[in-house]
Amino acid sequence: MLEYAIDTKQLTRRIGRRETVKEINLKVPIGGIYGFLGPNGAGKTTTIRMLLGLIKPSSGEISILGKDLKRDRINILGEIGSLVESPSYYAHLSGYKNLKIIALIRGISETRIKEVLKLVRLDKDAYRQVKNYSLGMKQRLGIAAALITYPKLLILDEPTNGLDPSGIQEIRELITRLPRDYGITVLISSHLLSEIEQVATHVGIINNGELIFQGSIQKLTEKSRPYLWIETDHPEEAAIALRQYGWDADPELVTNQVKTSVIEKPQSAEMIKLLVNSQHEIYRVAEKKKTLEDIFLELTGQEHSL
Ligand SMILES: Nc1ncnc2c1ncn2[C@@H]1O[C@H](COP(=O)(O)OP(=O)(O)OP(=O)(O)O)[C@@H](O)[C@H]1O
Ligand SMILES: [Mg+2]
Repeated sequence: MLEYAIDTKQLTRRIGRRETVKEINLKVPIGGIYGFLGPNGAGKTTTIRMLLGLIKPSSGEISILGKDLKRDRINILGEIGSLVESPSYYAHLSGYKNLKIIALIRGISETRIKEVLKLVRLDKDAYRQVKNYSLGMKQRLGIAAALITYPKLLILDEPTNGLDPSGIQEIRELITRLPRDYGITVLISSHLLSEIEQVATHVGIINNGELIFQGSIQKLTEKSRPYLWIETDHPEEAAIALRQYGWDADPELVTNQVKTSVIEKPQSAEMIKLLVNSQHEIYRVAEKKKTLEDIFLELTGQEHSL
């Protein structure tokens, strides 16, 4: 049985001497929601454009739904729905009319237009002019257009860009239903993990054209091991004392804190005992855990916004 809807091998895109996508091996499991994450300029759109046959890879291979994109381009593209950057419409026409145009070109029935409008919850606003739609409604219309041909794979490039929290939530709910109710595999890119961590089953993180993490959301969460945060009178000496016993510890002098890495509860008890026995005053102790966003920022080398 086919395991991956998208499977690339050493996929590379070079512009001049610069590699904007470097030898990436994307593995998007069938029936999954794959969050393709990376900061601005990381190479997300470039990768997606290659997957959609819009630009040619400099080297490497792309297999989609078990077929080689180079050999089966037309067949494959017929099975993909996509929304790359902002969708384009006729603003003076209604949402319905916009879809009708696509349906006419593609030989799709009237019933399907109604179906997809309902699916993206635009049925009530279907007959309003698109220029009066909110950004979220426009994005949903774009997704409706992508779904109209019954794709097996949906590729969305930053569909939540510029949306407010409720707009993001609407897209989230819509996307969650697609694999569950229709068996569609989804790849969704974003520069914010928080926007997709609730929907994604798998994550790929790209930075400077390199895929620096790929795996299930659980695998990413495992990286968020808790640590102990201790407020004490002499953090530097406390850190030295802890390190002598083999624990990681970082003093933060300004705030009188020591950050340690702790995995299990008994270890925290030992650490505190050690500090108390070596005459450190302990004011506060708390167990802290990195959020997925912290891990993402760490992996991509971005600054914390705290
Ligand atoms: N046509 C082009 N000519 C030259 N450089 C390009 C071109 N298209 C993209 N790039 C460069 O390739 C790199 C990757 O860009 P890409 O648009 O794929 O990133 P992205 O992850 O989609 O970023 P964003 O979050 O801003 O959409 C960037 O450094 C960009 O400057
Ligand atoms: Mg982009």
